[in-house]
Order: sequence, then C-alpha cells, then structure tokens
Amino acid sequence: MSKKYKIASLFSGCGGLDLGFINSGFEVIWANDFFKEAVDTYKNNIGNHIIYGDITKIPSEEIPDDFDILLGGFPCQGFSVANVKRSMEDERNFLYKELLRLIKDKRPKFFVGENVKGLLSMQKGKVIEMIIDDFKALGYSVEYRLLKASDFGVPQNRERVVIIGNRLGLENPFPKRTHGMENDLFSSNLIPQISVREVVGHLSTIRTRDKSFQLNGKTIYNHIARTNVADKFWGRKHKINQHEICDYLKYWRNKSGLSTKKIDEHFGYAHTAGHWFRKDNNSGSIPNPSDWWELKKLLNFDDTYDKAVTELELKEIKFEQSLRINNWDSPSDTITATGPEIHPNKERRMSVRECAIIQTFPDDFVFCGSLGNMYKQIGNAVPVLLAEKIAEVIKKELNKYEQTNNKTIGRIKENRNIRAEVFE
Ligand SMILES: C[S@@+](CC[C@H](N)C(=O)[O-])C[C@H]1O[C@@H](n2cnc3c(N)ncnc32)[C@H](O)[C@@H]1O
Repeated sequence: MSKKYKIASLFSGCGGLDLGFINSGFEVIWANDFFKEAVDTYKNNIGNHIIYGDITKIPSEEIPDDFDILLGGFPCQGFSVANVKRSMEDERNFLYKELLRLIKDKRPKFFVGENVKGLLSMQKGKVIEMIIDDFKALGYSVEYRLLKASDFGVPQNRERVVIIGNRLGLENPFPKRTHGMENDLFSSNLIPQISVREVVGHLSTIRTRDKSFQLNGKTIYNHIARTNVADKFWGRKHKINQHEICDYLKYWRNKSGLSTKKIDEHFGYAHTAGHWFRKDNNSGSIPNPSDWWELKKLLNFDDTYDKAVTELELKEIKFEQSLRINNWDSPSDTITATGPEIHPNKERRMSVRECAIIQTFPDDFVFCGSLGNMYKQIGNAVPVLLAEKIAEVIKKELNKYEQTNNKTIGRIKENRNIRAEVFE
C-alpha cells in the first residue's frame, strides 16, 4: 500500500480541488477560505479541518508543518478575461503571494496552483512569467499547462492553467489526455468526450424544488434553479394580473381544503407556494407553467386562466458571457461563478445540481447557502475529476521518489552494518 501523503490547502472554496486529491488517496490536514457558505459546504461534505478566515491574517505558525503538498487555486477575478478591469494593481492578484509565503515557510515537496486561462495573456504574458519566476526563486522547479477539463472525462469545456512545482528534482507531471471529439482523426485512442445530455439528461424534465427527492433510487439534492433572467429568455405571451390569479387560486385552495404548507410539501418548496396566494405588497408570484399544471391536478381548478398563464413566447435572448444556452450533445460551456448556463429547455438556468454534476461533484455532495452563493461555490471550483487526474500523476511521482529514497536509505544502512562487522 502506498503512503498517504498530506496536504494543506489554501483558497479551498467548497473543496473541488481538495476532493479530487482525497479521492486519489491523499489526506487534507488543513484548509482555509473566507467565504462563509463555501466553508460550511466544505465542513458538511469533506471535514472540519477547514479554517474560516482571511489567509493574509493567519500567521504561518498557526498552520501545521507536516504536509507534503500545498494546494492553492488562488483567486482569479483580477486575472480573468471576464473582468474588463484586469490589472496588475488589483490587490487580489497578489494573493498568490500567500502560496509563496507558505512554500517558503513550510517547504512542501510539491505545490499545485490553479487559475483562469486569462492569466496567460495578462500584461502580454508578463504576469505568468513573474509568478513562475517567484516560485522558482524559492528553489522549486516549476511548470504550467493549460488543461481542458473535457479532455479528461469532465462534461465541460473548462480551460484552466495548472501550475505544478517541486523541490525534489522530480518531473512536474501533468495528466495525459484521455477523451476527445469523436471525429478526432489524429488521436484514435481517445474515449469520446462526455456530453451534457449524458450526465444531466435524467433531470431535464424534473421540476426544480428546494427539498431533496428520490429519483431512480437516488436522492437528488439542490435541484434548484433561477427561473428567470431579467424576463429575457422566456416570457408569458399574455398580460395577466397577479391579483386576479391570486384571488382565483385562493378560492380553489380553500375549496380543496389544502393548506399552503401542504401544497409547499407537495412541490418540495420551502415557501414558494405561499407566494401564489399572496398579493400584499405585490410580493406574490404567478406559478410557472409546469407548476400551474401540477397545481391544477392538486386543486382541480377550471380552465379560466390556463391559456393566459401557460402560453409562452420566446423572447429575445441577449447573449452575454454570463447568459448562454448550454450545449446538450457536447460538453458544457464553462460553468461560471456568476452566470450559470441556461438549460437547453430554455425555461430556467441549469440547476445547482446540474452545475455540480457538470463540475463532477458526487451526487451526495450537498451545497449550503443562498442560491447565488451555491452557484458561486460551484463555478469557482476545480472539477473534481480533473483534480483527481492531477493528483494521480503527482502521487505516482512521489511514490517513485519514496521507493528510490527507501532503497538508498536501505543501501546506506546495509553499508553501515557491513562496515560495523568488519571493525568488530
Ligand atoms: C477559485 S476559488 C477556489 C476554488 C477551489 N479551489 C475549489 O476547487 O473548489 C478561490 C477562493 O479563494 C477564496 N479567497 C479569496 N481571498 C481570500 C482570502 N484573503 N483568504 C481566504 N480565502 C480567500 C475565495 O473565497 C474563493 O473561495
């Protein structure tokens, strides 16, 4: 059995990178982030070894010494092409210096950094050069590659810069591509890339809801989603009055004898059903078409408003970086922190669970926090499967090193014994 190497992890977020390493047999002994909800998610799913707090305020002495690898997907907002104000002055850009600090103070065998593709073009390549030089100045050999998650079996065309360094004189290993497009003439050994349909097809017609539910013998968590995007991607064809609908639904709810709570329970919502029966301060809402039909089954109301509520018309969709209809028969576009993809059925965004699946989080990995913060944790993460592949090749190098080292130590001990016998 190979040794269980230990890890300290900076900027861990909800733990995508960490989980990949854990799945490959590593042990994370210390982690840190200052995003409260991400820390809650990490604790609930991975472990209590994560410390909530700003890394710039945590002295090195408070961090354990005995780890082999330092991980750090350092924050990228300042580097990202999504951010038009990319600038070397953005103070978040300097958070990689926290990685430098810990490498200097703790001397791990390996370190792994991760960042967005935009890092490579920032200041015409000067930024990445500066970062690599800073790591090298600490006595590490360092290399970086741009990896595409879909090349490794992740159903997503996410591209990220991965930086690996070590101080043992070893190769900095990067995983070999395993997946490719079906018509890739140059690499016949590759497995076909995984499409969005393959991984989330089973959820495409399933109503989103707050509570977990059973589907094909599995518990589905966090199948919740934003259902409108500034009324731009789908909208009702007819103008309707929310107060009228509310009075109408209240009448039928009273007739059915069902409480709002019971209706919420039926839908698996926490409070949504309440809004269908409220018109105070205009805080009510009109059910979306699929909820309307479900509610009709439940309350048995007549057809008066069916057409008005359920007839939709496709309204103009404004394509922005943060507003894209996702692919279906190919890997997904990048799941981002701020603008998760719109589901191909165009009635909602991809749900939190669908985004998590596309980021290769396991089904029982449950996210904490508000809807927006869940999307953010997932969009920030390194796909678990990609992290696993990186972890595997590093583990191989470390094992080789340990074996050679053990043999050398064995030989030194043997020589010492022979010498001792000669002198006896
Ligand atoms: C790109 S995300 C890392 C995601 C993570 N590697 C994963 O795979 O899930 C960067 C993280 O850095 C955290 N962060 C930014 N500045 C920080 C600071 N000063 N101290 C601690 N965490 C910080 C953010 O809250 C965010 O979760």
